Amino acid sequence: MDESILLLYLTLFLFISSTTSTRAYNELVLSKADYQGLQAFKATLIDTRGVLNTWNGTRNNACSGGWIGIKCVRGRVIAIQLPGKQLAGSLSESIRQLTALRKLSLHDNSITGLIPSALGSLARLRGLYLFKNRFSGQIPASLGQCRMLVNLDLSHNSLTGEIPSTLNSTSLYRLNLSNNKLSGTIPVALTLSTSLNFVYLDHNKLSGSIPKSFGNLSMLKEVFLNDNLFSGNMPEELGKLSVLRTLDFSSNSIGGTFPISLCNLSSLVFLNLGRNMIDNAIPESINGLKKLSVLSLKSNRFRGEIPETLGNLSKLSLLDLSENKFIGVIPESFNLLTKLTSFNVSDNNLSGSVPLVLAQKFNASSFRGNIQLCGYTTSAPCPSSPSPSFPVKPGHRRRLSTRDIILIASAAVIGFLLLLCCLLLFCLSRKRRTATAQTTRTSAKTETEAGEDTGGKLVHFDGPLVFTADELLCATAEIIGKNSYGTVYKATLEDGNEVAVKRLRERIVKNTKEFETEVSKLGKVRHPNLVALRAYYLGPKGEKLLALDFMPKGSLSAFLHARGPDRHVDWRTRINIAIGIARGLNYLHNELDMVHGQLTSSNVLLDENFNATISDYGLSNLVNANVSSSAIVTTVSELGYRAPELSKLKKAEPKSDVYSFGVIMLELLTCKPPWGDDKWPRLATMGCFGHE
Ligand SMILES: *[C@@H]1O[C@H](CO)[C@@H](O)[C@H](O)[C@H]1NC(C)=O
Ligand SMILES: *[C@@H]1O[C@H](CO)[C@@H](O)[C@H](O)[C@H]1NC(C)=O
Ligand SMILES: *[C@@H]1O[C@H](CO)[C@@H](O)[C@H](O)[C@H]1NC(C)=O
Ligand SMILES: *[C@@H]1O[C@H](CO)[C@@H](O)[C@H](O)[C@H]1NC(C)=O
Ligand SMILES: *[C@@H]1O[C@H](CO)[C@@H](O)[C@H](O)[C@H]1NC(C)=O
Ligand SMILES: *[C@@H]1O[C@H](CO)[C@@H](O)[C@H](O)[C@H]1NC(C)=O
Ligand SMILES: *[C@@H]1O[C@H](CO)[C@@H](O)[C@H](O)[C@H]1NC(C)=O
Ligand SMILES: *[C@@H]1O[C@H](CO)[C@@H](O)[C@H](O)[C@H]1NC(C)=O
Ligand SMILES: *[C@@H]1O[C@H](CO)[C@@H](O)[C@H](O)[C@H]1NC(C)=O
Repeated sequence: MDESILLLYLTLFLFISSTTSTRAYNELVLSKADYQGLQAFKATLIDTRGVLNTWNGTRNNACSGGWIGIKCVRGRVIAIQLPGKQLAGSLSESIRQLTALRKLSLHDNSITGLIPSALGSLARLRGLYLFKNRFSGQIPASLGQCRMLVNLDLSHNSLTGEIPSTLNSTSLYRLNLSNNKLSGTIPVALTLSTSLNFVYLDHNKLSGSIPKSFGNLSMLKEVFLNDNLFSGNMPEELGKLSVLRTLDFSSNSIGGTFPISLCNLSSLVFLNLGRNMIDNAIPESINGLKKLSVLSLKSNRFRGEIPETLGNLSKLSLLDLSENKFIGVIPESFNLLTKLTSFNVSDNNLSGSVPLVLAQKFNASSFRGNIQLCGYTTSAPCPSSPSPSFPVKPGHRRRLSTRDIILIASAAVIGFLLLLCCLLLFCLSRKRRTATAQTTRTSAKTETEAGEDTGGKLVHFDGPLVFTADELLCATAEIIGKNSYGTVYKATLEDGNEVAVKRLRERIVKNTKEFETEVSKLGKVRHPNLVALRAYYLGPKGEKLLALDFMPKGSLSAFLHARGPDRHVDWRTRINIAIGIARGLNYLHNELDMVHGQLTSSNVLLDENFNATISDYGLSNLVNANVSSSAIVTTVSELGYRAPELSKLKKAEPKSDVYSFGVIMLELLTCKPPWGDDKWPRLATMGCFGHE
C-alpha cells in the first residue's frame, strides 16, 4: 500500500520488539572457531560470481549481515544459506568446526564430490538442503548421528549406493532423495522414523519389495516411490496410513494384488499405480477413497469388471484405466463423475455402450482398443440404439485440448508437490530448550508444534501449507498493511509459498487461554468469500501471530484507489466483488452467527480472479472485552464505514455490518473512498468509470 515497502526479516522485527536494546556487542562478533570454519568452507568452493567476496574483513562484521548467507546467534554460525549462487568446487570436511550449525542450504549450485561425512558431527543440524547439485558417492551413514535432523533433501544429484539404515535415529519429517542413482532396498530401519510425513524416493534404482513396516509410518502424508525397480506385492499394511494424501508407486514392477485395505485410506487424494504388474480386480470397496481426485491404474494387468462403486468417487478429476484387461461395461454410475476432466479406458476388453456423459465429454482416444465398445464415435455406433439419436455430433462435443489436459495434470502434480516442502530452522536467539522439537497431533485437523528454540507454540488448522514455527519466524517478510488490530506481513516460506502473517497488538488481545478458544473457532471457518486462517503462533513473550491465506491482488481499497488514471474497473468485476462480499457476510451472519464489526474496503481482499474475500472477521472476539470498541478504531480510514450508532460504544451487530457493506457498495459505485480529501458523496465525479 505505502510506497515505502519495507523489506525486513520478521525475525529481526520480533527480536527488536521483544527484547531490550542492551544486547552485548560481543554477541555480534563471530567466534574464532566458526571464523576458521567458514574460511575453510569457502576455500574448497569455486565461487565464479564472487558472492563470497563479502566474507572478508574481520570477525566483527560477519554476524551483522555483512557476510552473505550467514546467520548467527551469539557469535555462532547457525545457518549458511547460499542457494542458486553458481557455486562449484566441493564441500570441505572442516565443516565439522561449525558445531552450532542448524541449517545448510546450498541447493541449485554445481557442487561436486562427496557429501562430507563430517556433517554427522553437527549435533544441532535440522535442515540439510543440497538438492540440485552434482554430488556423487554414497549418502554418509554418519548423518544418522544428527538426532535433530528433520529435513533432508539430497534430490537431483548423482548419489549412488544404498539408503543408510542409520537415518532412523534422526527426527526426519521430510526426506527427499529423488532423482539420484540409489540402489538396494528401502531399509526397514527407515520405517522406524515415525516422524516422517513426506518421503520422496522416486527416480532412483531402488529394488526389492516395499517393507510391510511402511505401514508403521503413521504420520505419512505423501510418498513417491515411482520410477524405480521395486517388485513384490503392495503390503496390506499400507492400509494403516490413515492420513496419507498422495501415493505414487507408478513405473515399477510391483505385482500381486491391489490390497483391499488400501480402500480404507479416506484421506487419499492422489493414487498412481500405473505401469506395474498388478493383476486382480478393483475392489468394490474402492469407494472408501472418498477424497480421491486422481486415480491411475494404467498399464497393469487388472482384470474383471469395473466396479459400479467407482462412480461414487465424486471428486475424481482424472481416471485412467487404460491398458489393462477389464471386461464388461463402463458403469452408468460414471455419468455422476461431474468433475472428470481426463478419462481413459483404452486398450481393455470392454463392451456395451459408453455412458452418455462420457461419450459427450471425451473423444475416441479415451475409448479405443475395446473391440466391443460402442457409442463413442460415429464409426462405432451401438447396434441397438436408434441411429439418429446417438452418437452426438462431434462438433458439439466439449473436447479438452492437449493444453487443458497438460495444465490440469500438471496443476494436480505441482499442487501436491507444493503442499509439503520444507520446515526448519530457528533464527531467534532465545533460551534453548533441550527437548527435541515435536509435532503432536491434537485432533484430526490441528497440529501443534513446539518450536525448540523459539519456545513458542504453533497450531495448524486444516489447509495445504506446511511450515514450522521456526520457518515462519525466519521467513522473508514484507509489510503489506496495518490496522487497529495489528500489522500484516507477506511472508515467503522456504518452499516459495506465500502466507499472510498478522501480528496482533499484544495489549488488546485476550489472555492466552481465552485467545486459544476463540482462535480455534476462527480456524474452522471455511468459505470461498472469507479469508481462511491456517495457523496461529504464540510466542514465548506473549506475541500472537495469525497465518492466513495470502491474497495476491491485495485489498479492494488499494484496487480501487491506487490505480493509474487511465485504468478502469469494469462493471462485471465490481458486481462480482459486491456479490462476493454479500455472500461472505451472509455466511458470517447466518451460518456462524458472527458479526464482523470492522468491515472496510481495506479488509476486503481479492484473490487472483478478483473474487472478494473478507478478512479480519471475528478478530473482535480475540480482543479484550474491556477494550472498548471505539478504542479499537484508530485509523482514519476505518471511520467512514462505521454505522453512526456505534459511536455510542454500542456493540456491533449484523445491521452495522450491513451499513458498512452499503458504504463499500457506494465506494464500488463511485470509486471514491469515504475518507481523505476525495470524500464522497460527490457522485458527479465518477472516479473509475473510465470510458464505459
Ligand atoms: C569486503 O568486500 C566488499 C565487497 O567486495 C567490499 O565492498 C568491502 O569494502 C570489503 N571489506 C573489507 C573490510 O575488505
Ligand atoms: C535404528 O536402527 C538400528 C537397526 O538398523 C537399531 O539398532 C537402532 O536401535 C535404531 N535406532 C532407533 C533410534 O530406533
Ligand atoms: C510395526 O508395527 C507393528 C505393530 O505395532 C510392530 O509389531 C512391528 O514390529 C513394527 N515394525 C517395525 C519394523 O518396527
Ligand atoms: C478398514 O478400517 C476398519 C476400521 O478402521 C477396520 O475395521 C478394517 O479392518 C479395515 N479394513 C481393512 C481391509 O484393513
Ligand atoms: C453410491 O452411489 C449410489 C448412487 O449411484 C448410491 O445409491 C449409493 O448409496 C452410494 N454408495 C455409497 C457407499 O456411497
Ligand atoms: C474379451 O471378453 C470376452 C467376454 O466379454 C471374452 O469372450 C474374450 O475372450 C475376451 N478377449 C480377450 C482378448 O481377453
Ligand atoms: C489413452 O490411453 C492410450 C493407451 O495408453 C493412449 O494411446 C491414448 O493417447 C490415451 N488417450 C487419452 C485421451 O489420454
Ligand atoms: C482427444 O482428446 C485428447 C485429450 O483429451 C486430445 O489430446 C486429442 O488431441 C483429441 N483427439 C482428437 C482426434 O480430437
Ligand atoms: C524432491 O526433489 C525433487 C528433485 O529436486 C524436486 O523436483 C521435488 O519437487 C522435491 N519434492 C518435493 C515434494 O519437494
